[in-house]
Formats: sequence, C-alpha cells, structure tokens
Amino acid sequence: MVQMDILIKNGKIVLPDKVFDGDVFIKNGKIACIDKNLNEDAKIIDATGKVVMPCGIDAHTHLEMPFMGAFSTDDFYTGSNAALYGATSAVIDYAMQTKDESLKSTVEKWQKKAEKSLVDTFFHVAVVPPVENIIDELEDIKKMGINSIKCFLAYKGSLMVDDEGFLKLMCKAKELDMVVCIHAEDGEEIEKNTEKLIKEDKFAPKYHAESRPAELEAKSVRKVIKMARETGAKVYFVHISTFEAIKEIQKAKEEGLEIYAESCPQYFLLDETLYEKEDFEGAKYVMSPPLRTKEDVESLQYALKQGWVDVIATDHCPFNYEKEKQMGKDDFRKIPNGIPGIETRMSLMLDLMVNRLGLSLIDFVKLNCSNPAKIFGIKNKGAIKECNDAEMAIFDMNKEWIISSDLLHENVDYTPFEGIKLKAKPEMIVFRDKIIELK
Ligand code: URP
Ligand code: ZN
Ligand code: ZN
Repeated sequence: MVQMDILIKNGKIVLPDKVFDGDVFIKNGKIACIDKNLNEDAKIIDATGKVVMPCGIDAHTHLEMPFMGAFSTDDFYTGSNAALYGATSAVIDYAMQTKDESLKSTVEKWQKKAEKSLVDTFFHVAVVPPVENIIDELEDIKKMGINSIKCFLAYKGSLMVDDEGFLKLMCKAKELDMVVCIHAEDGEEIEKNTEKLIKEDKFAPKYHAESRPAELEAKSVRKVIKMARETGAKVYFVHISTFEAIKEIQKAKEEGLEIYAESCPQYFLLDETLYEKEDFEGAKYVMSPPLRTKEDVESLQYALKQGWVDVIATDHCPFNYEKEKQMGKDDFRKIPNGIPGIETRMSLMLDLMVNRLGLSLIDFVKLNCSNPAKIFGIKNKGAIKECNDAEMAIFDMNKEWIISSDLLHENVDYTPFEGIKLKAKPEMIVFRDKIIELK
C-alpha cells in the first residue's frame, strides 16, 4: 500500500508542554518531525489560524452494550465513525461480563464486536457479581493486554458487587498493577429510595434523579477511598457528578493515594431542570448518576478550573428516545440509563474549558487526550510527539455552530446537547496517513 506523507503547515500546535507555532510532518502514519519552516515532498495542509491538537481518547464508552433490556444503539462501526467526526481517534470501551462468563471469553467477545471499529479500540472489563468467582481470572486478561477492571456499586440486583468481593478484587488488582474503575453510587440506598417513590406512585423520569441524590455519590466515594487506603490499589472514579465527591477524591490525592477522577460533559453543562420537560422528554436525560442542580454544575466547573479532574470521557451509552427510552414510559425504573456524547465531547469541552473557563489548550489536551493514554497504558497516542501515531485534529476556534442531532453521526434520534452554541469546531482530522474532512 502506498502511504501518503502529510505536512501540516503553520498551525498553532498543542504540544504536551507548550503551544508551538509551526509545522508537523507525518511519515508512514507516524509523527516524524515538529519544527518551523519544514519543507517536505508531501500532501500539504495549510493550518494557518487553526489549532492543531492530538485527537481525543474517549476512556468511557458503551458500544453495542446489552443493558436494562436493550442494546446501546451505536455499534463499533457507527460509534467509531461518530467518534472520528468528533475528533476522537481511540476509545476504551467497557467489555461487559455476563453472569458466569469467564473474563477471557468476555474480552474475546468484545474484541470480535470491535473488529468493525474504525478507530483503535481498547477495553476495560466490567465484572458482575459474584466477584469472588473471577478474581483468579484477572491474570488471564492482564496477559491479554487489559489494564483495568470495573465494578459497579450501583444497579442493585444486576451489576452491583458486594463490598467483600470488591475489596478482594482491589487486592488482586494491586498485585497485578491494574486500575480499578468504579461506578460510585450507594446502590442499597438508591434501592430503598426507589421503593419509597414507587409506593407513592411516583413513576415519571424525574424520580430517577430523586432516587439517586448527590450525597449517595460522595458516600460511596468515601467508602472506596477507605478501601484504596487499605489495599493500595489504583482507583479511577468514573463519571463523577458532584462537587462533594470530587472534593473527597482531591483530599485523597493530596494524602498520596493514586486516585483519578473522571467526569463527563453532561455534568458540566446540563442540570436537573431538564427532568421537568413536558411529557416523557425527561427520559432523554435519564442516566446514572443523574444530572444535578445548577449549583452543582457551577461547582463542578470550579473543580475543573482547580485541576481536580483528571479525565473527561463521555459515558456514551445511547438509546433512542422514540424506541428504547419508551420502555420506561410508565415507570422510570425501566428507562435504559445512558445518553450519547461520543461526537460532541471534544467541541463542548474545548469551548467550555478554553473559551469560557479560561483554561489553556494544554489543560484541554491533558484531560481529553493524554491523561487517558497515561492512566490506562495506551502507547504512542494522546500527544503530538515524534514517533507517536499521527492522529491529529485541526480545530477552527472561531467557528460558531449550534449542536443539533441532525448534524451528528451518532446512531440515535437525539442529542442531550441540542441547541448548545459553541465556538470551536473540528474541520479536519489527520488519521495516520489519511486526511478526513469533517463536513
Ligand atoms: O447511565 C449510564 N451511565 N449508563 C451506562 C452505564 C454506566 O453506569 O456507566
Ligand atoms: Zn456507570
Ligand atoms: Zn458508563
């Protein structure tokens, strides 16, 4: 195959430690040279006035995942295509174990599904109870290149693991140097709240949020931090939605624990008033953890500015409003939890972090591109650096646009970010030896 060499000229290039005005030369799909006034026999891209950054890595996706009686509607082909349109060139998807399935078989199943992915696809393995049964299998998947394991402390009766099993799993993960990803919400308390709401005949989507108040996230985070202290395991909290929880995580980091906080665009940009939408529209925002108050949104933005967030991922888990979400028309417990976001993350966060909160392009790249690679051991990606894979996005930071589901490629009938105005749009990506214009 003849590979095309590419020369990006005169861009504002976001390097790991500085923004550099110059050129990037790509040879055989790798970054060969970063300098000024390069002159190579290659396909030229004029990036004058544009920002050149690494493509994103989305460390939290659920593609083609069976969940709550449905399948998330993006498969690895449609989801990865949408990812590319959103300037994301790699994903770490959650391979979901089914009851009594071996972890090796879980990974093989997900590897098979991901054969149609257009982007490099990595996996965390999410385990189901009883966890004791699979602890000895962690070694098998570590050998298969899996560096992270996930447990849910929510979804009682299906995914929720018990504390004893979880602690044993953390010990084994420490021994194998694997990262423990954790969905921290107190599943027992959520169950009690849900039963109470149902007894009171409260079935509308907004009661999903009422059943999972903010303090149950912080409570669960505190419990896990205690376990991290006891075991020394590396812990990565997924989709943190509250200031209280992120503050606990920050305190634990300052104590010296190796702990990471992930959050998602929805928790920085949307709030719980959306559950009040007419008819059943609130179902579009049913996810776990749920959207929080406006004050929570502001304080989470404050945490972002303080540098307390390590990774921005999407938790992309789309279900059509007109189809799968309708399963819960009469009962919020049956609404499949999850929202789309794989295509909008980079633009939304670039606009929020750089244009609105005054953070730097370097900060943006850290949280959306390089930290996911560092934390989960992905080599040669997430940074514009010689020898790395040439996966770069060219952004127009002056391009104003309004998010609309009609413009997106996600395989779902809505976007929760509909109508949000932005000033940051990816125009083109260089994906190794290919140039993809984003229309
Ligand atoms: O509502 C959500 N977040 N759905 C996906 C599964 C999970 O909890 O991450
Ligand atoms: Zn979760
Ligand atoms: Zn998730």
